Amino acid sequence: MILKVARLGHPAVRTAAKPVDKDQIKTHDFQKLLDDMVETMHEYHGVGLAAPQVHLSLQLAVLEVEQNPRYPDAPSVPLTFLINPIVTVLDASKISEWEGCLSIPDMRGAVARYKQVRVTGLGREAEPLDFIATDFHARVIQHETDHLKGEVYLDRMDGMSTLSHLAEWQRFVLSARG
Ligand code: NI
Repeated sequence: MILKVARLGHPAVRTAAKPVDKDQIKTHDFQKLLDDMVETMHEYHGVGLAAPQVHLSLQLAVLEVEQNPRYPDAPSVPLTFLINPIVTVLDASKISEWEGCLSIPDMRGAVARYKQVRVTGLGREAEPLDFIATDFHARVIQHETDHLKGEVYLDRMDGMSTLSHLAEWQRFVLSARG
């Protein structure tokens, strides 16, 4: 089932999410929610989707990058379920790249993100997760876990001067990249 995505201005997008009860993860309802979030992410060509974006105050996000038309140059990232994730910075050097967000439709902005992070938490079957993400993968992790704190990429921008409407961005930025 495709879920309704909350846009910036809906309080759900700006509310810090509550931890998921580990005992709930294997329930039918929770597993159905995970499937619905993946379906919703795919429907809107997102590379990630966090539970607050579908009006749920849960520390839960899904992410996947695979030949995404919104990010044609992005290296692939396997389908990942992040439950109660904790992110620690391994390489604090920052890289600036363009981001968008399903809750901020048709906009792009340049955001500086840490180059490498470590992620711990739980996966789809409540199994422990512990992995290192670098570059674009690290960027997606930081973007999605910010959502769990009620934060969006606009908050991470050094200023608003790069904020662009998608159509203009495609015309002036994407085409310039060749
Ligand atoms: Ni987002």
